[in-house]
Amino acid sequence: MHDCENVLIVGSGGREHALGWKISQNKNVKKVIYADGNGGTHQNIQILPTELDKLAKYAEENELFTVVGPEVPLSLGIVDTFNSYDLPIFGPTKSAARLETSKEFSKHFMNSQSIPTSEFKVFTDAGKAADYIERINYTAVIKADGLAAGKGVFVSSNKTEAMDAIDILLNKKIFGPASEKIIVEKKIIGEEVSLMAICDGESFVIMDTCRDHKRVFDDDLGPNTGGMGSYSPVPEISENDLNYISDKVFKPVINGMQAEGNPFHGFLYAGIMIEKHTGKPFVLEFNARMGDPECQPLMMRMQSDLFEYIIAAENKSLDSMQPLVWKDMFSTCVIMTSKGYPDKYETGYAIRGLSKPPDKYETAYPIRGLSKPPDNEIMIFHSGTKLNQANELVTSGGRVLGITSLGKSINEAMNKSYEKVREISWGDNQQHYRTDIGRKGLEV
Ligand code: GLY
Repeated sequence: MHDCENVLIVGSGGREHALGWKISQNKNVKKVIYADGNGGTHQNIQILPTELDKLAKYAEENELFTVVGPEVPLSLGIVDTFNSYDLPIFGPTKSAARLETSKEFSKHFMNSQSIPTSEFKVFTDAGKAADYIERINYTAVIKADGLAAGKGVFVSSNKTEAMDAIDILLNKKIFGPASEKIIVEKKIIGEEVSLMAICDGESFVIMDTCRDHKRVFDDDLGPNTGGMGSYSPVPEISENDLNYISDKVFKPVINGMQAEGNPFHGFLYAGIMIEKHTGKPFVLEFNARMGDPECQPLMMRMQSDLFEYIIAAENKSLDSMQPLVWKDMFSTCVIMTSKGYPDKYETGYAIRGLSKPPDKYETAYPIRGLSKPPDNEIMIFHSGTKLNQANELVTSGGRVLGITSLGKSINEAMNKSYEKVREISWGDNQQHYRTDIGRKGLEV
């Protein structure tokens, strides 16, 4: 294996920026390169995350250890391609990534391993799905089987909304092949928590709790997005709850995937609903990667050296690692988006209020060799940004920046994030953000 001095991060979002920032703190890491990165990541190469052979050749020539951020290259088999070149890469194979890329696979797998999840049925025929909706006496969630960029889940409040979702997915086929099959499942009422683990195919190390805010407007109103903000830890989830979920969810996934010849190697994400009336956890979905924006506050709070764990996973020695250590602090991440996201929005606006030019942000990397760990308590992780020809930082996507802070309390972390958020703008008030990220944590 290479010396792992130089790392390639595949992807261009806030998750990848945060992963690269954290990995760069490892004392042996000299360089972090992003494919294809964004306006806040310093060293970018112009190879897209979907150009698998080009990425493998680049990693081979430059002796890079690769870490995959998003799901699309995993679904295309980036890990299988790298394995065929005998190159080190952290992520699941295409087959193991089906935990995320096929909801049908994932639900059947959960049932086969007795992992708690709500009852469900799979349909390819709109008429049969509609008949089923007429007969059931529960409120339904309708999901596209395949990847739909976070937009393939329809949480209905009544039968008419459920019928509309079936029409959109199976008749109008708005996600193409990804919605040729749908899952109709019972809606579980409660609060969600996101849990992630580092896995080596045989064992895993679980991370602390985090909560995402998926809806675009305050009070969880409006359409679903990729995530409008997150906070960590989630105070109402106790250590006992976390141990229970580790035993009843993560352990059976790792054992079950290994038993079926698809060992899961990479970041595993479980989206869990804690049912209001029973306090029981139900798995809503698995993802074969870190969550975004969950990754941003988690990286801020992680005291342990993430890259040591990734290397241990590469060497299949995670079982000899200590549990991850977390800063005894809260972290909130407020996502600033282009106005109109997740629907139509405009890009290309110069971003105001970042006190330093983007290359200076890169120099905010922690300095190695000092006895104390770095103390960056506000980080601005970029996603939809780029440098234009005049070297100005401009907006280039729906989710633009993740303003991520650490504080001794949720309140302190929220205040720091929002103070910074209010300094940042673009266009004629073309930015949007939720004003309640972290508030649920205050209500506990
Ligand atoms: N924040 C949700 C996700 O990453 O899928």
